[in-house]
Amino acid sequence: MAENISRYDLERLVEDKRWLAQQGELASYIPELKRADPLRLGVSITTLDGKTLSVGHCQDAFSLQSISKVLSLIMALMDNGFDNVFSKVGMEPSGEPFNSISKLETMENHIPLNPMINSGAIAVSALIKGDSVAHRFERVLNFIQKIADDSTITLNEKVYFSEKATGDRNRSLAYFMKSTGVIETDVDEALDLYFRLCSINVTCCHLSRIGAFLANKGVIPGQRQPLVSEDIIRVANTIMFTAGMYNESGESAIRTGIPAKSGVSGGILAVAPGRMGIGIIGPAINKKGNSIAGLSLLSAISKSYDLHLL
Ligand code: DON
Repeated sequence: MAENISRYDLERLVEDKRWLAQQGELASYIPELKRADPLRLGVSITTLDGKTLSVGHCQDAFSLQSISKVLSLIMALMDNGFDNVFSKVGMEPSGEPFNSISKLETMENHIPLNPMINSGAIAVSALIKGDSVAHRFERVLNFIQKIADDSTITLNEKVYFSEKATGDRNRSLAYFMKSTGVIETDVDEALDLYFRLCSINVTCCHLSRIGAFLANKGVIPGQRQPLVSEDIIRVANTIMFTAGMYNESGESAIRTGIPAKSGVSGGILAVAPGRMGIGIIGPAINKKGNSIAGLSLLSAISKSYDLHLL
């Protein structure tokens, strides 16, 4: 490994933090997520030479959930360019819960505050190019498969149906944005793509490889040519840093010092630029939708390996 990371030390960090899971709860508003083991905790680290170390309970897959928002933002930026994307979504942290609707009505032009909250991510989904939802989904899925180096990554259909069956808050956000012209394409297709992207199954190891790609300026470790421009990766990392953990983004930035993005399944994708990608799973989450043990583990890893950027 390019970094000096010992399995033993990482195992100790995971064991130190596991008890914290008892303070969190499984996301219950999507019934399929209630089936996870709340005490599970695992981490993978991929360094920029492409080597991965996995520790704890990290073999089983979980759904990407909101972590997919980073990947759809990158795809939308590649498809449309910076100005077009940011004419439909803002760049400011929201300080609001991930599914909040309140600011949409009061913001100028009713533009969602940033691409990491649900409204912003649905607006971004509407910008991804393709002939049909299936085609758009396949484009993003292929992109994820490539950077995570696994062509078997696929949709978790049970989560997808569960997501759709309980997605009325997201529908209300999307229809509001349709009414104000933020979404100009088919609103049901934008929603369907969003639900599908949230339902892609990954492991910690996939997340850490995605993180390493983001830490390596858009170059998949081991390759030479960037898959995505450095400018786009910088935008994605910066938005993760300021808004990736919703209304806990400030605290996360202080405690971990690196860009991170959470999902309600308890996953965390974190990026230590120029150093490593980190993928964590800890399904018990706090009220803000972030893994309790996972966030604490990330902060301990950041301290141990001196990852804090500031
Ligand atoms: O939109 C939703 O409700 C979910 N599918 C994704 C939300 C999510 O992961 C929020 N994150 N912590």
